[in-house]
Amino acid sequence: MQIYNFNPGPALLPKDILVQAQKELLNYQGVGYSILEMSHRSPIFEALLEAMKADVRELLKVPNNYHILFMHGGARQQFSAAPMNLLSENKQADYVITGAWSKMAYEEAQRYGDIHVAALPDKEDFTYTPNPKTWNLRKDAAYVHYTTNETIHGVQFHFTPNIKIPLVADMSSDLFTRPIDVKRYGLIYAAAQKNFGPAGLTLVIIREDLVKTPQALTPGLMRYDNLVAAHSLYNTPPTFSWYLSGLYLQWIKAQGGLSALEKRNKEKARILYELIDRSSFYHNPVHPTARSWMNIPFTLAKKELEAEFLKTAEAAGFIGLKGHSRLGGMRASLYNAMDLEGVKALVKFMEAFESKHHSAKKQQMQIPGL
Ligand SMILES: Cc1ncc(COP(=O)(O)O)c(C=O)c1O
Repeated sequence: MQIYNFNPGPALLPKDILVQAQKELLNYQGVGYSILEMSHRSPIFEALLEAMKADVRELLKVPNNYHILFMHGGARQQFSAAPMNLLSENKQADYVITGAWSKMAYEEAQRYGDIHVAALPDKEDFTYTPNPKTWNLRKDAAYVHYTTNETIHGVQFHFTPNIKIPLVADMSSDLFTRPIDVKRYGLIYAAAQKNFGPAGLTLVIIREDLVKTPQALTPGLMRYDNLVAAHSLYNTPPTFSWYLSGLYLQWIKAQGGLSALEKRNKEKARILYELIDRSSFYHNPVHPTARSWMNIPFTLAKKELEAEFLKTAEAAGFIGLKGHSRLGGMRASLYNAMDLEGVKALVKFMEAFESKHHSAKKQQMQIPGL
């Protein structure tokens, strides 16, 4: 049976890279042993690391005054690493909260400085991206943190805020899904397990003037200055994750790069939202200007059918559609490796499920203020 994997992360990987990894698992590039058995300080592994860095620089057009670091600990470790490294003298940072992940980043940062909320929707109504003109920013803040795509709530910024304070962005669920202008940011971080690799690797891109002496208690492994000095090889990294991520970056290049992926990702999201909006059976609460292309949460008009929806979907090969426990309902994650055919198949399944259980068509959606 064909499986369509809509998991939120770790997520679907391009089949081609899994096949390549399988093919060369026992004998990496003809050396006679596995990449899993190789020293991270060997010339072969260092070449792999340099190729990855070059691919990241090329794909994201990273300017030369930015360091590219490969780190451990997931994105969540960056919730501490960013404030510990950036708030050594100036302890002020402002956080924009648009969903569960930015809220967690804000809560974690509290330990390390004078952290303020710059924007938070009333009653935590995480359905839109607050206009940066309304953000309550302190002019002396060391940085402003925000999350470009809220993986749980399905809220995504489709613009880069234009502000003077360095922007720190958690891009864990949308980096490498479309072009970005790196020079608009001070620090970007992203865990790999959604759009550019398996779990185990976190990419950090930091403007060189922001690499400073961190707070005294910052663990060595979390200090950006250490990672810069050691070219990311401060200790033994998860070498297999790096290797797979290296293959994924090459795959992205082979797809035509980020502009090609942007086009495909946008189209995938469009057809699923179109179905949701034309039916009164499915519902997505997010304001159209802030709807995520990556994670699409939805509910059913008849809540009692949700369990059956998930069960029937899974039986038909559609896995990973259960919503996050904080939100309930369903969520389809449409990361880079999901192709248009997979989303079309999901739409077809959802249409069939709807016509079996419901037939009314939705009234034209009215959006207040638009
Ligand atoms: C936007 C965002 N930030 C942070 C995280 C945490 O990532 P990790 O589990 O790698 O620490 C996630 C995980 O899903 C995420 O989606």
